[in-house]
Amino acid sequence: MGNLKLFKQKVLVIGANGLLGQKIVETFLDDFEVHGIGRKNKPSLEFDKFNYTVCDITNREQILELVRTFEPHFIVNSAAYTDVDGCEDEKEDCWKINVVGVENLAKAAKRFGIHVVHISTDYVFDGVEGNYDEESRPKPLGYYGRTKLAAENALISSGIDCAIVRTMVLFGMGIDLNHNFVTWIIEKLTNGESIKIVDDQFGHPTLVDDLAKAILKIVDLKKTGIYNIAGSECMSRFELAQKIAEVFDLNSALIHSIKTKDLNQKAPRPLNSSFDLNKTLKEIGFQLSDVEKGLQTLRQQLDNSKLLAS
Ligand SMILES: NC(=O)c1ccc[n+]([C@@H]2O[C@H](COP(=O)([O-])OP(=O)(O)OC[C@H]3O[C@@H](n4cnc5c(N)ncnc54)[C@H](OP(=O)(O)O)[C@@H]3O)[C@@H](O)[C@H]2O)c1
Repeated sequence: MGNLKLFKQKVLVIGANGLLGQKIVETFLDDFEVHGIGRKNKPSLEFDKFNYTVCDITNREQILELVRTFEPHFIVNSAAYTDVDGCEDEKEDCWKINVVGVENLAKAAKRFGIHVVHISTDYVFDGVEGNYDEESRPKPLGYYGRTKLAAENALISSGIDCAIVRTMVLFGMGIDLNHNFVTWIIEKLTNGESIKIVDDQFGHPTLVDDLAKAILKIVDLKKTGIYNIAGSECMSRFELAQKIAEVFDLNSALIHSIKTKDLNQKAPRPLNSSFDLNKTLKEIGFQLSDVEKGLQTLRQQLDNSKLLAS
């Protein structure tokens, strides 16, 4: 009888159709009553016990009404304007979604006493020093990073119970998603196309399945404050591409190295945004997969989905 839960706590997942949002929904469904929101008319995932509402986080009244009706114990926000170069061109939209949207969530959370877990990014750092811990001073290089930092500050100054999860280089599979870095490389190499990949950008590739499990722990432990949560291994994008070729039995000779300065990307990139992950290991007791294990897991999932489709 001791552990018998009479009712499930409720979690509102914002951005439920995204790469991470889908994994959060799947991961929380066993233990929580899950309600997702997104802008798409239909949810990407359909489960009997999963409810979904079309809602834009920039609409404060709609958010308030949804929170008032669903009465969640937790809000997990994985929605964002995530196109880093697009943010430089669409600054107004980017600010509305990444900052005003988060302020709307904070206001609703404050009014109804809800604990928020918000997903942020390594792009709050300039990538000069690397090995950033949760106390390191942010200094974003581009507009995306500036908006993500402004959202962190809005949450902290709102005074609500809130955990900010900083993460990076997400990969994984889901339904109706754009390519992430890893699935893009797999597609290019599978098609026999040669690719140029930067060898001077370093970070921790992070399997979304792992990240969703770590977020579940953050919620279970009702953590507040900033947490660096990312895959356990740091490497360059070029090394990651080589590893992908190895794990997926693809032709690594198609991968050529290039420098970031020669790519002419619209938004400047932090070159070394590596994290010190000790706080998360100590307080959450959870270590995410290294790159090899993360890629093996993804390969298994992709193989299974092909089997199901055939
Ligand atoms: N991807 C990475 O490598 C990476 C790295 C560091 C941090 N992060 C952070 O991790 C989080 C999840 O990233 P992700 O890669 O899973 O993102 P994603 O796949 O681009 O998904 C983001 C979701 O946000 C939703 N969204 C956007 N604007 C919205 C609005 N106004 N109202 C409601 N929903 C809205 C979209 O919903 P619809 O599809 O329904 O429009 C989309 O499904 C984000 O906070 C991102 O900043 C990502």
